[in-house]
Formats: sequence, structure tokens, C-alpha cells
Amino acid sequence: MTAIHVLNGPNLNMLGRREPHIYGSITLAEIERLVREKAAKVAVNVTFRQSNHEGQLVDWIQEAGAQGAGIVINAGAYTHTSIALRDAIAGSGAPTVEVHLSNVHAREGFRHRSFIAPVCIGVICGFGPMSYLLGLDAVHQVMIERARAQQPSKH
Ligand code: DQA
Repeated sequence: MTAIHVLNGPNLNMLGRREPHIYGSITLAEIERLVREKAAKVAVNVTFRQSNHEGQLVDWIQEAGAQGAGIVINAGAYTHTSIALRDAIAGSGAPTVEVHLSNVHAREGFRHRSFIAPVCIGVICGFGPMSYLLGLDAVHQVMIERARAQQPSKH
């Protein structure tokens, strides 16, 4: 069964109470429920985690890579600051999709730069909780295609 780790960075534990005009009223627990619902439909095994600590996120990225899992990551503000997360993603070999609830490109200039985007397959932002579901689908499809490409040809 395909495994995908959904990793959440700093302040995402505050969703529901945090700047609801930007992030809406949905909590992280509710996003987790939506992600698990979707994953169950497509037979994906999900690990869903949140930490406010950069090093913890590095450990989890390494763990996902070692397990051959894919990653959907909302790195929160670390997206815009963290070379450590970028190096962890690049070094883990885990196919990774960066997601954000808000459209970071429609916000302050410092949110337009992502340190992790260049080592991710792609970025999905601006769709609220749906960003996570689209991210899950995207990384799942890439993992299926890569597994298929590795199978010996039948011709
Ligand atoms: C965020 C966008 C980041 O810029 C911000 O620091 C967050 C949340 C989002 O999901 O929209 O913490 O990642």
C-alpha cells in the first residue's frame, strides 16, 4: 500500500483560531479527517503530523524517505526561511508536494519565495483545505507512475 506522510509546520496547530480571515475557520483536526477520508478511498496509508519545531520536521522528512513514503508538506513560515527543510527533502528522496491553504503569491512579498519548492515535484496553494487533497492526489499519482516506470517492460 502506498504510504504518504502529511507534514504540517509551525502555527498550523492554531488553525480555526488563527487569522480566520486568511485561513478560514477549519481546524487542523478537520483537515486531517478530510485527508484520511480521501486517502481511504484511494487506498493510501496516511501519517498526519504537525510540529512547531524545524528539527522535528527534518526528522519526519528523513523518516518518510527511509520508509519509501511520499510527502505532502505545509511547512508554514519555514517554507520561506528553511534551508534545513530543503536539504532534508532533497536528501530524503521522497517525492514531495508543497501545499499552502492561502495563495502565498497574493500576500506579502516575503511569502513569494519558497526555499523548498525547487526540491519538490510541485506546489499547490490557495485552495484552502482542498490544497491538501489535491496535494495528496498529486503525489500519489507521481508515485504510481514512478512505480510503473520501474517495472520491466513486457515487450
Ligand atoms: C501557509 C502560508 C505561510 O506563508 C504561512 O507562514 C503559514 C501558512 C498557508 O498554509 O497558507 O503559516 O503555509
